[in-house]
Amino acid sequence: MKKAIIFGVTGQDGSYLADFLLKKKYSVHGIKRKSSSFNTERVNHIFEKKNFYLHYGDVTDSSTVQNLINLIKPDEIYNLAAQSHVAVSFKIPEYTANTVALGSLRILEAIRSSNLRKKIKFYQAGSSEMFGKVQQIPQTEKTPFYPRSPYAVSKVFAHWITINYREAYKIFACNGILFNHESPRRGETFVTRKISLALSKIKLGLQRKLLVGNLNAKRDWGHAKDYVEAQWLILQQKKPNDYVISTGENHSVKEFIDLSAKFLNIKLRWKGKGIKTKAYDQKGNCIIECSKKYYRPTEVDTLLGSSLKAKKDLNWKPKIKFNQLVKEMVNSDYMNLKKNYVKKKR
Ligand code: NAP
Ligand code: GDD
Repeated sequence: MKKAIIFGVTGQDGSYLADFLLKKKYSVHGIKRKSSSFNTERVNHIFEKKNFYLHYGDVTDSSTVQNLINLIKPDEIYNLAAQSHVAVSFKIPEYTANTVALGSLRILEAIRSSNLRKKIKFYQAGSSEMFGKVQQIPQTEKTPFYPRSPYAVSKVFAHWITINYREAYKIFACNGILFNHESPRRGETFVTRKISLALSKIKLGLQRKLLVGNLNAKRDWGHAKDYVEAQWLILQQKKPNDYVISTGENHSVKEFIDLSAKFLNIKLRWKGKGIKTKAYDQKGNCIIECSKKYYRPTEVDTLLGSSLKAKKDLNWKPKIKFNQLVKEMVNSDYMNLKKNYVKKKR
């Protein structure tokens, strides 16, 4: 039985990856950090599974990282742990660098200094945010990076330290450069989930207005379920390598809103430009407004990836299309809210 460690198991990707690896008959060791409130909601459904283990740990704490690796002796390590919110990284840059950049280094150092250096395969969760102010369209493994936030700069460090440990110490260390991927388990402050939740609440009369930032930003949005499969495939190759994982199409935040509204049968009428853009429902109520609060000091305007290398080497391509993704997110939020709301009313 193969053993895997997932740093960041309580996050969106960590939980889907744990589901995926358990189905592949792995013994899965998830690392969760200490929190004063419950942070295991996304893995509660596998909590009691025979081959699933949860350990306390934190990527800012090198001795625990080292102890866990020496204790578990994994075949594969997935480093998904991060302060992963781009806007928040401008507010807490040092903490972001500590988790995102140094967190990766701590895990790599623990692998290097253990006697399992030749056995362990390491996956680093890289990001399309590293392309930032894009130097080429579409972005590939060869496109130069131009990071635009403390988060993205930290991911660039993590990317290169992974390559450095591969070359210097022959560790099987790989980077996935993943474009945005979403799901019903997406954190509620990322734009897609913020939209699916808010419009569902507006439809049910539980919220009046949605406040957003830059409506024109474009992202290459895929489904997290497809993307965790790519993470695993990257570690199953004969040689360690780096891969862009993307859908090859992008859409604006405004398009995401329009499609979500369509699935909820809300008819939107847009008015105004830039920060003054507003959207009204069929009754003439203003239900969407822009706020400077959600703009970033330096924005990434557009991202679009090419996954030709992943298709060729990993035989990977995304199965879930943009329309299906939006529909699944909106349906999930609407149905859950409706269930809870009706329960409360009773
Ligand atoms: P997420 O939902 O924010 O999950 C991040 C995970 O890291 C959570 O389990 C979080 O724990 C944990 N974490 C945060 N700080 C930690 C620390 N100091 N020590 C240990 N664990 C810590 O992110 P995601 O969307 O699943 O993304 C997974 C990874 O892929 C991240 O590294 C992200 O930067 C990267 N990535 C994501 C995307 C995307 O579109 N989703 C694209 C490219 C790259 P809590 O649950 O306690 O907060
Ligand atoms: N969060 C948020 N909230 N974003 C908004 C809003 C809003 O109200 N309004 C507009 N946006 C715009 C952002 O300015 C950005 O251009 C875009 O929507 C997407 O924002 P997020 O959903 O926060 O994701 P992200 O692209 O910044 O970062 C995500 O994807 C990266 C991969 O490219 C995160 O998951 C990162 O961890 C990941 O690396």
